[in-house]
Amino acid sequence: MKLTVVSLVIYTTIFAVLINGYDCKIVQFIFGDSLSDVGNNNYLSKSIARASLPWYGIDFGNGLPNGRFSNGRTVADIVGDAMGLPRPPAFLDPSLNEDVILENGLNYASGGGGILNETGSYFIQRLCLYKQIELYQGTQDLIRGKIGNKEADKFFQEARYVVALGSNDFINNYLMPVYRDSWIYSDETFVPYLTQTLREQLTLLHRLGARQVMVFGLGPMGCIPLQRVLSSSGGCQEKTNKLAQMFNTQTSKLVTELSTSLPNAEFRFGDAYDVVNDVIINPNNYGFSNSDSPCCSLGKIRPALTCIPASTLCKDRRKYVFWDEYHPSDKANELIANEMIKKLGFKHINQTDNAAPSPGPAVAPSSDGN
Ligand SMILES: *[C@@H]1O[C@H](CO)[C@@H](O)[C@H](O)[C@H]1NC(C)=O
Repeated sequence: MKLTVVSLVIYTTIFAVLINGYDCKIVQFIFGDSLSDVGNNNYLSKSIARASLPWYGIDFGNGLPNGRFSNGRTVADIVGDAMGLPRPPAFLDPSLNEDVILENGLNYASGGGGILNETGSYFIQRLCLYKQIELYQGTQDLIRGKIGNKEADKFFQEARYVVALGSNDFINNYLMPVYRDSWIYSDETFVPYLTQTLREQLTLLHRLGARQVMVFGLGPMGCIPLQRVLSSSGGCQEKTNKLAQMFNTQTSKLVTELSTSLPNAEFRFGDAYDVVNDVIINPNNYGFSNSDSPCCSLGKIRPALTCIPASTLCKDRRKYVFWDEYHPSDKANELIANEMIKKLGFKHINQTDNAAPSPGPAVAPSSDGN
């Protein structure tokens, strides 16, 4: 009896595949910087922005470094989990093939990368957004060769996209006097230059088939530990925060405008600026005890650019907003992601294909952190 039901399900499924052709899953393609990198920079042998040493990843899976610039999950991990989507592997992972991409999507995010090509050049190797989109075009060619143009068009149009860059364009470009952009632009001209470049990039992604795109805004980046050590008081850099807010306002407008002007585009913008700002001012209200220094720290010798094996860790990693000089902790990422989910308004995706009977309640996505 049980066997009959099982074979019925199998026959129905096979039948559905025969009718609909290749039955593609909904997956994600992620474009970003170190806040979303899941290992690409570890394969860039010359990059000096890598999360390849302890204590990165200490609260994720087996606890070994996995390329994430955090102790645990990224914001994109948590948002994707909430939508019921698989976590896409790093594009540069040499074990990838078409089947893995069709099942899981891809993540092109790279530590040090920016919206602008020139951002982060001091990291020597990183993938800027234009380069990431170029690599995505290569992925499209690969998938078209495997499943044909018609199915590939559907696969890429149904996929979800994350575009999460911008902080390096300020922190590792405009705000550093070693970069040319810091001499030739002002606050009033640099932010429009950034958003105009982003407009071209989002329009290009749409032309390539992206329809459902989530654009992440910036947090109060003047409050990252690395910015605080710039002032003798140790306070937040208000100029830097103001730039983040200008970027968010202009990018939000841009995304709304593209969403109405481009055919079938469902582009959404989400940021967690206000919540994170409040967490930084009132950490205790959110269960944190520290919001101004990194959990992984070299103490007085700060700022070491990254968390290194010689660093000491804070006692309770769930109570620190920042993991290292730049990046939030797993717990802070969870808070940021929940705010994004509220603002972006995308729903949980039911991956069971319509022809097959429902297999019962979906298993809750596991959180590798905590
Ligand atoms: C940025 O880089 C891409 C390739 O990665 C290139 O095609 C493009 O022309 C560059 N744009 C500018 C303004 O330099």
